[in-house]
Amino acid sequence: MSRIFEALQKIQSQQTPVASGAETIPPEPVAFWTEQREEELRATSSFAPSGPPPRPSLTSFAPGLNALRQRCAKPAWKLHKDSLVLFNEQSFDQCAEQFRILRARLYRLREKKPFRTLLVTSAQAGEGKSFVSLNLARAIVHQHERHALLIDADLRAPKLHVSLGAPSSPGLSDYLRGDADEFSIIQSGTGENLFFIPAGRPVSNPTELLGSTRTKSLFERLNTLFDWVIVDTSPVLPVSDAAVLAPTCDGVILVVGAGRTSSDLARTACQELRESRLLGVVLNGVEDDALGSPYAYYGRSEHVRG
Ligand SMILES: Nc1ncnc2c1ncn2[C@@H]1O[C@H](COP(=O)(O)OP(=O)(O)OP(=O)(O)O)[C@@H](O)[C@H]1O
Ligand SMILES: [Mg+2]
Repeated sequence: MSRIFEALQKIQSQQTPVASGAETIPPEPVAFWTEQREEELRATSSFAPSGPPPRPSLTSFAPGLNALRQRCAKPAWKLHKDSLVLFNEQSFDQCAEQFRILRARLYRLREKKPFRTLLVTSAQAGEGKSFVSLNLARAIVHQHERHALLIDADLRAPKLHVSLGAPSSPGLSDYLRGDADEFSIIQSGTGENLFFIPAGRPVSNPTELLGSTRTKSLFERLNTLFDWVIVDTSPVLPVSDAAVLAPTCDGVILVVGAGRTSSDLARTACQELRESRLLGVVLNGVEDDALGSPYAYYGRSEHVRG
């Protein structure tokens, strides 16, 4: 028996999930080099490993986006018009224009320090996190040859699938529990360059799942595939999911509801996110008349702290 084979057997035995309840976080998927070695061994020896073949993973496939598009799920989306800003690069609709400004500012910020994975959160529920995440992602893919992945990481009250008219599972929670592979949770539902991972089936331990190394390594792999990854999350004050997930992302945007979020609450939310890179604040729900103000839609985080 070769050393490589022994090493493989050891890795496999270490990675066999312990039989347990549904909420167990499974170990990392078998790494790329390990799968490659297994294939080599199958080809060169009579060794046939027992048990099911390893689930496919993005690293084992090393796909470009076109290849990913072929392998991922392709449900028909039925976009919900109430959650969408009307986009067309020629339109001068105020709201669409504000998303284009937000997009431009993010591009400018990333000239200084590269980032791709953006977490969107707010202090409390209902301040427009999902609305901002979805429409920012759409503003990005309206640009020529830009690809964005939208992830619904609000495992407690997921809503993006409703706005997109997309299946809610399999999704992030299913992958994190080991019940689905990476390709089956990524949807490409329209001709646009927008991809989507829904939240998946309800779970009782969302914070634990989102803080797991499995989440971290999935996000690291996704980060290399897309121009932008926009992650919609739960509000930061009632639950710790967003604060736990934020360090896994490159930066955080805090949505503040105009006339709704007090400056105290916004400041406390910033405190909760202090371990992460807070890029700025989106002031959502501003009346059209107020949009002339430089503070109206997007500002550096200091504007909230001050
Ligand atoms: N700027 C806006 N213009 C029009 N409608 C908006 C705007 N912002 C939010 N909404 C609407 O308000 C509702 C709540 O917004 P949304 O679901 O995005 O909030 P949320 O912060 O994600 O809530 P939750 O904390 O429950 O996830 C939705 O119906 C959304 O379409
Ligand atoms: Mg939401």
